[in-house]
Amino acid sequence: MKKTKKSVGRSVRISPQLRTLIANAIRESDWLHHPEEGKVNIGWPVFDEKEVLQALDSLLNVRISQGPKVREFEAMAAKYIGTKHAVACNSGSSANLLALTALVESGRIKRGSEVLLPASTFATVASPVIQAGLIPVYIDVDATSWNIDPKEIEKAITKKTSVIMPVHTFGNPADMPAIMKIARKHKLLVLEDCCEAHGASIGGKKVGSFGDLATLSFFVAHNITTGEGGMVFTNDPKLDETLRSLREFGRLTNEAATTHRFNYPDKVLKNFDARYIFTRLGYNMRMTDITAAIGIEQLKKLDALNRKRVNIVTQYQKALAPYKKFIILPTIAKGHFHSFYGYPFMIRKDAPFSRLDLVTFLEARGVETRPFFGACLPDQPGFRDEPGRSAGKLPVARWIRDWSVFIGCHPALTPGHVKQVINAFNDFFAKIK
Ligand SMILES: Cc1ncc(COP(=O)(O)O)c(C=O)c1O
Repeated sequence: MKKTKKSVGRSVRISPQLRTLIANAIRESDWLHHPEEGKVNIGWPVFDEKEVLQALDSLLNVRISQGPKVREFEAMAAKYIGTKHAVACNSGSSANLLALTALVESGRIKRGSEVLLPASTFATVASPVIQAGLIPVYIDVDATSWNIDPKEIEKAITKKTSVIMPVHTFGNPADMPAIMKIARKHKLLVLEDCCEAHGASIGGKKVGSFGDLATLSFFVAHNITTGEGGMVFTNDPKLDETLRSLREFGRLTNEAATTHRFNYPDKVLKNFDARYIFTRLGYNMRMTDITAAIGIEQLKKLDALNRKRVNIVTQYQKALAPYKKFIILPTIAKGHFHSFYGYPFMIRKDAPFSRLDLVTFLEARGVETRPFFGACLPDQPGFRDEPGRSAGKLPVARWIRDWSVFIGCHPALTPGHVKQVINAFNDFFAKIK
């Protein structure tokens, strides 16, 4: 039999029949849409057939490592946030490590200099600071917004300070106008951790577009997810190039390697293939195309998913308002869009019950609870003996450590789940005098 020549670069197409089969299978199964009946999880991925089909397209075309979909996802995300560049990677923790290392690598800041960050936040806000050879300075948070307090930032600045690293906690934008003013006055760089704040904004300007660098996480519990994933944002082309190199072993970026394939100017390596020229110590923190495929579809849905979160939060706020003498509910500053990664609240210190009483009750009623992440990082076992200093006594972070709670408000929750949460609170407070 005569062999037919295969056309190069032909892509495998998903037929309309296969599309319908997958869409029907997902719709009929319900598994991607609803958390367990009677269980109010902290987070839940909200998918439909679009994410599955995009990922399948990558698989069928054997684009399984970093490729065109990563570039497409980066371009979409940069446009959404409002920055010139976005560099995808494998997690929000990696994004923070890449961002801080890029600042050191590019000579913008000195190893050993200090990074001001909120005391009350997630572990991998501070640990990448130490891993990049920098010193975290734990700043107390504001008692109302639970975000880094600009007044405390000013007090903590020394000659060693190089970066302010605000976190938009639970999707509540930190006071970026005040933080940027301080940064300009003291010539400091700003790295915004937006890992909990997809789509949050101030006066319509997205968080992540204020500072010199910003990071996002696409972990499964977040407002949009790729399972695991992260991204770094910047307007600075030099930082973008350094980030891309650090993400991939410390080698030359693709463009540089292509331009200089066999003529990269180096005093030792002569006519050496530039694809294997390593110009710095790097990592392998790449995102795969299968992951990016999911991200492309998730990002298209972000604003609609956030609106659903806000709707659920509005119901919680109304139902819990009568209990304000016992608990402090989240507030939203004028002009801020709070994207509510979770629904946080604080128990008042004089409440006639403990946090353990309340969370035990809620958990028994199927409502998952958590404290505000690491709550007060310098008090965590892993940080106690590491480099770093606390700016003051951190009274608010320590109050958060002992009295904070958050619950889920994700768009997969049904009206039945929301009712379950509200009934659980009503029953708990019915017993409190
Ligand atoms: C503020 C903050 N930064 C960084 C991270 C780390 O993100 P990832 O879980 O993708 O590594 C998280 C995790 O949720 C976070 O809350």
